[in-house]
Amino acid sequence: MEFAKKGMRVELNRRKFMAGATAMSLVPSVGRAATAPPTLEAKPGRVRLITAEFGDYPETEIWGFGGGVPGPMIRARQGDVLQRRLVNNLPQPTSVHWHGLRVPNAMDGVPGMTQDAVAQGGEFLYELPLKDAGTYWYHSHNQSTEQVARGLYGVLIVDEEQPPEVDHDVTIVLDDWRLSKKAQITDDFGAMHDWTHAGRMGNYIHAHLAPQISTVEQNQRLRLRFVNVATDRIMSVSLNGVAGKIVARDGMPLETLETPEVMVFGPAERADLIVDVTAAVGETVQLVIHERDTGYLLEEIEVTGQHAKTPRGPVPRLPGNPIERLTDLKAARSVPLNMEGGAMGGLRQGKYKGRVMSPQELVREGQIWTFNGEVGLPEAPLITAQRGETIRIPMQNNTVFPHAMHLHGTHFQEVLPDGTFGPLKDTILMDARETREIAFVADNPGDWLLHCHMLSHQAAGMKTWLRVT
Ligand code: C2O
Ligand code: CU
Repeated sequence: MEFAKKGMRVELNRRKFMAGATAMSLVPSVGRAATAPPTLEAKPGRVRLITAEFGDYPETEIWGFGGGVPGPMIRARQGDVLQRRLVNNLPQPTSVHWHGLRVPNAMDGVPGMTQDAVAQGGEFLYELPLKDAGTYWYHSHNQSTEQVARGLYGVLIVDEEQPPEVDHDVTIVLDDWRLSKKAQITDDFGAMHDWTHAGRMGNYIHAHLAPQISTVEQNQRLRLRFVNVATDRIMSVSLNGVAGKIVARDGMPLETLETPEVMVFGPAERADLIVDVTAAVGETVQLVIHERDTGYLLEEIEVTGQHAKTPRGPVPRLPGNPIERLTDLKAARSVPLNMEGGAMGGLRQGKYKGRVMSPQELVREGQIWTFNGEVGLPEAPLITAQRGETIRIPMQNNTVFPHAMHLHGTHFQEVLPDGTFGPLKDTILMDARETREIAFVADNPGDWLLHCHMLSHQAAGMKTWLRVT
């Protein structure tokens, strides 16, 4: 925890916003008329990850899209067809998953399921009709415990036809790096202790702001888009010096706006906020990360003037996306998912590659988490749904760890204890020993993963799949 302790104490000198080597480049969106699809090149690179205020550290060798971290921000308009030609110049095969987008199955980027992994030197053309506006992200879906930990991810923003008026639209990418004393990513990616516990935790938590805004004014309106790209770490963050609402979760506009207090983001979870700067001139807007009982300052933005005498007034709802929300569960089919395994979980056995194994044998295979008694991707889908069918999945977490359950291909809603439905989500953070139920209309044909987005858990067995016919 060296960097975390050293780097984040509030009393450290005030951060200045450095235009570092990690600055994002904007790639223009591509409409239907594009001739040569722009490339998205996966390749090694070097970035200044640890900023100068923490001391004199060398640049970090990463793998990134475009050779940077995060990869290029992709920004397009709702209704467009986004094209990217993935070119793989990594020493490993790779693929791109467009997290949270409701894409055609063949574009989902899951090797062995929707495409072959793209070999070194190879390419793959992704073509994505952008049905929904919102904040999404893309990341490698091959050997992702390693590839995402090395930096293979980026933000994808789909703009509404008429976005709400704001003075600054800022993306805040939360990441967690495990770095050596020389600021290099440690290559202990398959460490069994990580896989059987809470996953690969880093020692350097970093918030990347894009654009790298350094000042704001009182009563300016900000849209803040949070994305937790960490492989395994749950991020609890709060803001000082602003007031406003959470207007979207996992890309999808909320019907009932929420007030941001401490916001908890499991890996892959996102939220959009619209807030007004309340801090006075000379004060700062602060982003605080909470670890146990302590808050650490992650970023700070100076308030250098007064934009207006008063705030703008109520925060508007975002225009809705063309996705059906649940109305009832009358005709729904229920398929339970029982989660077991990991350290201290009392797992007695698990079926892996067709054979029932003891926990000791499973650990030897590097596979230790089960869904309904099976470790890893089962041969048969958890569910075969008719297109249009409503599916409910009561998920029981019988482990002593939290899990961030992610469904590909469509958003779901939580079935709340009072029978109402929660907001549309693509990832849901379940606490240890918790039971939560999700439901959705299976309207996107194809084979779709359902897995824990703590990538260490996924790699160690927490995955299954659904077929929509
Ligand atoms: Cu964000 Cu299966 O992934
Ligand atoms: Cu998990």
